[in-house]
Amino acid sequence: MSTIPEVTLNNGIRMPQLGFGVYQVPEDETHGVVASALEAGYRSIDTAALYRNEAGTGRALAESGIPREELFVTTKLWNTDQGHDAALKAFDTSLEKLGLDHVDLYLIHWPLPARDLYVETWRALEKIHAEGRARAIGVSNFQPAHLRRLREESDIVPAVNQIELHPRLQQRELREFDAGLGVATEAWSPLGRGNGVLVDPVVTGIAEKHGRSPAQVVLRWHIQLGNVVIPKSATPARIRENIDVFGFELDDEDLASMGTLETGARVGPDPDTFN
Ligand SMILES: NC(=O)c1ccc[n+]([C@@H]2O[C@H](COP(=O)([O-])OP(=O)(O)OC[C@H]3O[C@@H](n4cnc5c(N)ncnc54)[C@H](OP(=O)(O)O)[C@@H]3O)[C@@H](O)[C@H]2O)c1
Repeated sequence: MSTIPEVTLNNGIRMPQLGFGVYQVPEDETHGVVASALEAGYRSIDTAALYRNEAGTGRALAESGIPREELFVTTKLWNTDQGHDAALKAFDTSLEKLGLDHVDLYLIHWPLPARDLYVETWRALEKIHAEGRARAIGVSNFQPAHLRRLREESDIVPAVNQIELHPRLQQRELREFDAGLGVATEAWSPLGRGNGVLVDPVVTGIAEKHGRSPAQVVLRWHIQLGNVVIPKSATPARIRENIDVFGFELDDEDLASMGTLETGARVGPDPDTFN
């Protein structure tokens, strides 16, 4: 079983650099899928209120028998629950569904700048953190302007910014901006949702050279960039394949080739306009 490296977040909390995402896993399949991931060695699980599978995730965690302190559980506040009081209530609901007394990381899912509620929502997350019910708090899909406002108008710098990041959307500027503030960058859709990039000749060529799969090459690229990464798969063989990325290394030539794959194409919405 692989030993997964950890990153130290800006409040000293340690987070596995590779975790498991459960977006689009139906609630009735979540228990089995998360159990497969835990069996394969993942200890960090990324869910969200939006995914409607917090209860299945929580059951799988409880039944695994793995001590709570060895797990790292992330969930997220959905858009309709932004605002100070709504966020506090939504957090209670998530915790109850997960069957936990705390999460390791709680994120604001989207900034929704046109609604302008993310600063007051962040104040609610600061309260949740102060109460010890989230060991770390962070954001998702935040652009530099949104992070700047939080820095100016609140007390805690987000521990994490979870953003769309894959070889087609490499997010060089945002990664640098995050790093400058001490915010860890976490990549969502790290495989580009299995869309195209896994059959790109650059990726398949590097995969052949190392005797690895295209998904392993892409995940290894993330790890070497320093990203936290949360691939999703509902397929047991792929779940195992995606965690087996610590026994090889991309060289400078591979990394330069990966750098050419940027097209700026998103698989998800644009955070500046998504509402
Ligand atoms: N914060 C946000 O706004 C946000 C948005 C989207 C996602 N996320 C998080 O990020 C996680 C990952 O993103 P994602 O699920 O969108 O995309 P992803 O992990 O990039 O890709 C998942 C897709 O790739 C396929 N796949 C997985 N491993 C593979 C492999 N080894 N070979 C070939 N295909 C493979 C999966 O198929 P099978 O499942 O059929 O195996 C699935 O269709 C989510 O689960 C969620 O936790 C966050």
